[in-house]
Amino acid sequence: MKLICANFKMNLRNSDIKNYLNVIKDKVKENVVFFPTSLYLKDFKENGYTIGSQNISFKDMGSVTGDISVLQLKDIGIDYTIIGHSERREFFNDNLYVDKKINLALNNDVKVILCIGENLEEFENKKTLDILKKELDDAIENNLDVINNDNLIIAYEPIWAIGTGKIPTSDILNKTNLEIKNYLNSKYDLSLRVLYGGSVNLENIEFLEKINSIDGYLIGGASLNPEKFLSLINKVN
Ligand code: PGA
Repeated sequence: MKLICANFKMNLRNSDIKNYLNVIKDKVKENVVFFPTSLYLKDFKENGYTIGSQNISFKDMGSVTGDISVLQLKDIGIDYTIIGHSERREFFNDNLYVDKKINLALNNDVKVILCIGENLEEFENKKTLDILKKELDDAIENNLDVINNDNLIIAYEPIWAIGTGKIPTSDILNKTNLEIKNYLNSKYDLSLRVLYGGSVNLENIEFLEKINSIDGYLIGGASLNPEKFLSLINKVN
C-alpha cells in the first residue's frame, strides 16, 4: 500500500478540525498519516489516526522560544515528522538544520519524510539532479549510522509544482524518481521509498498512479477539504 501524507501546513482552525474528524470517521486506512498544525496533533491521535509533525526543533530540549522538541511531540504520539520542506528551507533557513533534525528524529524512533526539490530556474537549467544530490548528501552523510530503509522516506517535491497546479510530465517524474533511487543505492546502499509531492489533486491522481516509481504522496492543498481528500485517497492503490 502506498504511503499518503496529508500536510495541512498552517491551515484549518479549531472548528474545521472538528468537522474534518467527523467527515473522515471510519473512512481512512492505516496507510494515511496526518500532519496537522501541531496544536491539533492530539485531536487526530485521540481519534486513532497516525500522526506526524510538520517540523521538529533542531535541539532536543531547552531555551528555544517558539520551537517544539521531538521528545515533546513523541509524548503526544507522533510516528513521523516532515523535515526540510521547501517552505521551511525558504523561511527558516532549514538547509542548515536538516541533518541535525534527522538525527534527533531517528534517534527517537520518529520516521522522517525528507523533502527535496529544485526551483523553477534550476529545473529550466537542468540542475535538478545536482540539487537533489546535494540535499540528499546534506541529510544523509552524517546520519548513516541511524538511517535504515524503513525510517527515512524521501518526498520529491519540485518547488515549482507546490501549490501551482503544475506537475512534471510522466517521463520527467519517472526519470527523476529512478535517479534518486539509483543514487541512494549506489552511494549509500539504501533502498528508500520516494513519495511525490506538488499539486497532487483529484484531477491528476489517475495520471500519477500510472507512474510505477512513485511509492506514495505528500499532499498539501488537496488534503484540506475532507470530502475531497477521501475521494482522492480512494483513487490511490
Ligand atoms: P501542495 O503542497 O499539494 O499544495 O502542492 C504539497 C507540499 O508542499 O507538501
